[in-house]
Amino acid sequence: LGVIGPGAILASAGLAGCDHKKYATNKENIEFLLEGISPDSKDRILTAEGFNWELLIQYEDKLNSEDSFGFNNDFTAFFPDANDSESGLLWVNHEYVDVKFVSGRKRNEEPTKDHADKEMYNVGGSFIRIKRIDGKWTFIRDDEYNRRYTANTRFELLWDEKIADKSEAFGTLANCAGGKTPWGTLLTCEENYHDAFGERNWEDGSIIPGRYNWQKFYDRPPEHYGWVVEIDPETGIGHKLIALGRCAHECATVHQLKDGRVVVYSGDDKTDECIYKFVSSEANSLKHGTLYVANLEEKKWISLSIDDQPILKEKFSSQTEIQVRLREAAHLVGGTACDRPEDIEIDPITGHVFIALTNNKPKDNYFGSILKIMESNNEHDSLEFEWETFRTGGLESGFACPDNLAFDNSGNLWITSDISGSALNKEPYKEFGNNGLFVVPRFGLRAGEVIQIASAPVDAEFTGPSFDKEQNALFLSVQHPGEGSSEDLSELTSHWPSGKGLPRPSVIVISGKGLEYLTHINLPE
Ligand code: FEO
Ligand code: CA
Ligand code: CA
Ligand code: CA
Repeated sequence: LGVIGPGAILASAGLAGCDHKKYATNKENIEFLLEGISPDSKDRILTAEGFNWELLIQYEDKLNSEDSFGFNNDFTAFFPDANDSESGLLWVNHEYVDVKFVSGRKRNEEPTKDHADKEMYNVGGSFIRIKRIDGKWTFIRDDEYNRRYTANTRFELLWDEKIADKSEAFGTLANCAGGKTPWGTLLTCEENYHDAFGERNWEDGSIIPGRYNWQKFYDRPPEHYGWVVEIDPETGIGHKLIALGRCAHECATVHQLKDGRVVVYSGDDKTDECIYKFVSSEANSLKHGTLYVANLEEKKWISLSIDDQPILKEKFSSQTEIQVRLREAAHLVGGTACDRPEDIEIDPITGHVFIALTNNKPKDNYFGSILKIMESNNEHDSLEFEWETFRTGGLESGFACPDNLAFDNSGNLWITSDISGSALNKEPYKEFGNNGLFVVPRFGLRAGEVIQIASAPVDAEFTGPSFDKEQNALFLSVQHPGEGSSEDLSELTSHWPSGKGLPRPSVIVISGKGLEYLTHINLPE
């Protein structure tokens, strides 16, 4: 199987001027010619030959008479109907708001309550009904399952003790990536939560305010954010999973063990923060279990249970306090400081765990890498592992700052890049152009290469790639187009998607014979 070999790290399309025309990808040397695109810096979505895109939904589209689609969409996850894979619910995260577009205030201007309310409405997530009509995925307005989750939605705090004296929290926010469980629920991850209601100063108990200043009108404890949130698409009800710990969770990637217990991998996306793994103690539940942090030097998962670690018992009064102050606990027990762990995916063919390490600018790592963890005996609850770097970002590999990852059923790895908007098209990122969507084909003559499939509009990043059930469509968020526009909106850097007026974060659907070819390629015997 593992056809992705070291010799395959050739220059990617465009960057080194390499001519890849007429490279057949299929092992029988027939079928689709997989040509990538060269980096692009125009205000448009450019796709490779064999791929096309269509708009599914955009910011402020009405879901029904009361609700509208939120801002800066990220993670997507498709939940097909049980008896009809051409209809289902698409979950979409709304990570954060750009106040100049959402409430009209300046970034350093104190919010009014109206500003805060508008901003708090447009974070969280959306469930939207979509159906394939005449071959095209279409958003269905007014469906009873269209639902918004905002910074005001109530969530139970799933834990045996209260968190900041409460067993319920208001709102989910900073929802970056996520995951799905084998029992059909959604996981959405609260990443840069400190921007909203700040963070506790553990020395004196005071609150370090968040940059949005919503705390001016809403008294919410910072301890209620920074969790993985589980939502049932059927009932719409959700809860926060305290057992998975509190940090800038990028994602929550689930693997089910043979006995029904589950393992969840998650990264803390902050410079020099850690990679975590949770192993549940009960089947089909994320309420109880053990949380571990990765020590890459010793190639071990280190327990964060108070009963296993005298040093944690000395510093913290309870397991609850460890869950809340996870970062401190992780470093105390020897968790490895990583280069901003972003999305995590499990290779469907080998079971290896792929982790995007986006960059570490203070350490002069501008392009990031993808880490591969191989659990001992390929058992996901193992406490020992080997690791290697799968790909290093840079001009030779053709991508920089990997963020989201997705494997399709054929084992091709899809990557989106997150070069920050202010750094795009400037050194050292100039030659990468705008952010993009890339694929690393599993098989064929270009196996192992990083091939760019799509280029994002000005200032934007592609986020949240996921597939429909048949894998003939790839859902993709287009986040923060035109974020470099002037605060008074008199100068707009992007007009995407309409080509005129304000730019709007949107979800698109990528399809075409190129996608179908890649996702349906037969595995070698
Ligand atoms: Fe929201 Fe770590 O990207
Ligand atoms: Ca990112
Ligand atoms: Ca991300
Ligand atoms: Ca992913």
